[in-house]
Amino acid sequence: MIDRLPDVAARLAPVFRAAGFTVEGVAEALGAEAGAALDRGEPEPARRSLPDAGSFRTLVRLFLLAESVSDAEATAAFDPVALDELLDAELLRRSGDGVAAGLDLRPHADDHGSWWVISDLDAGDGKDVDHVLGAGAASMSLARATVRRPVGTLLDLGAGCGVQTLHCSGHAAALTATDVSERANVLARATFAISGVEAEVLTGPWWKPVDGRRFDQVVCNPPFVPGPPAVEHVYRDSGLGGDGASALLVSTLPAFLTSGGVGQLLASWLITGADLEAAEEPGTGWATRPRAWVEEAIRAAGPDGLDAWVVQRDVADPALHVGTWLRDAGVDPASAAGRARSAEWLDFFAAHDVVGIGFGFVTLRRTSPGVAGTVVFEDLRQAIGDPLGPEIEAWLDRVAWLRGHDLLDEPLVAPPTTALERGYTGSDEGWRRIGGTLVRLDGPQWRHDLDELGESLLAGCRGHLPLSDLLGLLAVGHDREVGELTAAALPVVRDLVLHGLLVPRDATA
Ligand SMILES: C[S@@+](CC[C@H](N)C(=O)[O-])C[C@H]1O[C@@H](n2cnc3c(N)ncnc32)[C@H](O)[C@@H]1O
Repeated sequence: MIDRLPDVAARLAPVFRAAGFTVEGVAEALGAEAGAALDRGEPEPARRSLPDAGSFRTLVRLFLLAESVSDAEATAAFDPVALDELLDAELLRRSGDGVAAGLDLRPHADDHGSWWVISDLDAGDGKDVDHVLGAGAASMSLARATVRRPVGTLLDLGAGCGVQTLHCSGHAAALTATDVSERANVLARATFAISGVEAEVLTGPWWKPVDGRRFDQVVCNPPFVPGPPAVEHVYRDSGLGGDGASALLVSTLPAFLTSGGVGQLLASWLITGADLEAAEEPGTGWATRPRAWVEEAIRAAGPDGLDAWVVQRDVADPALHVGTWLRDAGVDPASAAGRARSAEWLDFFAAHDVVGIGFGFVTLRRTSPGVAGTVVFEDLRQAIGDPLGPEIEAWLDRVAWLRGHDLLDEPLVAPPTTALERGYTGSDEGWRRIGGTLVRLDGPQWRHDLDELGESLLAGCRGHLPLSDLLGLLAVGHDREVGELTAAALPVVRDLVLHGLLVPRDATA
């Protein structure tokens, strides 16, 4: 009876801690090389790093190396929790003469907490419809992008094994986790019980379990994978068809936020040939569908405005998308079943004129009554080393700052993380300058091309003179009309502030 799992799990934390079966304990015992090998799916180096006997060895063998152990070893390792209870709760299962893991259980941590996550075992191509994923790459990308400022209430929609809720337990006072899958909710309860995290767990589709409620923060890693309208795996398919899950969630999310509340989700959008053709500016066609969702989201914010930042992190062509997600579910695209499924999926995309599938992060913040928000769609496909969360926090701050200040009155500073790169090409007269690019050396490493006038303006941004004075001096120096120069400079300066390449003087104090 898996329903007994949360109660059993609640008693395991002291056992695991005493055995050293924690992120720190495992890292220390295995060392960097064996740990990295294990992450690559190569268990043998880790096995060789284990002590010869003891509870730690047994727990690592069971849960991290997928080995069977004897009843006697298991009994000793879980004491005082009885083997029968663990078998009954399906955390362990019979395997030959001994026992093996019945579920995936592994230590998990961030800078603020140390927990355990319980999910379904990786079943290769035998995943059930209600297979509950563990903390995978997508989960961790959302966790790293989450705004972590203290809030009262937080909702994790589509919580699965509960990993986002764990990461939010350090900054949110009251946590609510919802999922359409009853199995996911049992595993989430067990994850919370073993991790000592208190959270309300509710079952139901989309917003239904929290109808009429509002939260200071919403995080959501939904079943965002675009495809035909069917549910093969509840973690991946919404059943709505196309990019219906992302459309529904983005367009309705603000109704569930308090004023000032922030919602963040992973999302995916279809990019059609028609969208690309109709785009007024090159490179913006990908945002056609998210733009329509955000327009609805602005309506859902009611009397408040809405800040929205939609960041495209990746684009896959239909073939790559289908192959990737089939493999993710353990289906070989070259098998008969894989080919049949690929054909259905590709037919669906062809019928809808889909030429690409975009993927990224959506951040929405309700402003306050009558305060119009800022809406930005940004293609940010470059590699980003730093976690996105602090950058998203900073972006929200910059948007609020820009709303409350007249740029012309502000002394701005190019911080030490802003660099100017200059390009030159060879000519008969020697190196000829072809342009300058302003680069952020940290975070998303934004780049902005600058002309000579722009370079001069940036050179003057040392926090001494308000922007209007700098533009006045520049107009005189370059024999330009100040009004015209100001009109040209303001949108550029605004973008540079939004990207953290220029900062208010007070921010550097
Ligand atoms: C990609 S998994 C994310 C799990 C977890 N939050 C994470 O970050 O790893 C998507 C989750 O959404 C749930 N889900 C699918 N359809 C849903 C729906 N209509 N309403 C609520 N949750 C749903 C699935 O059961 C699954 O747990």
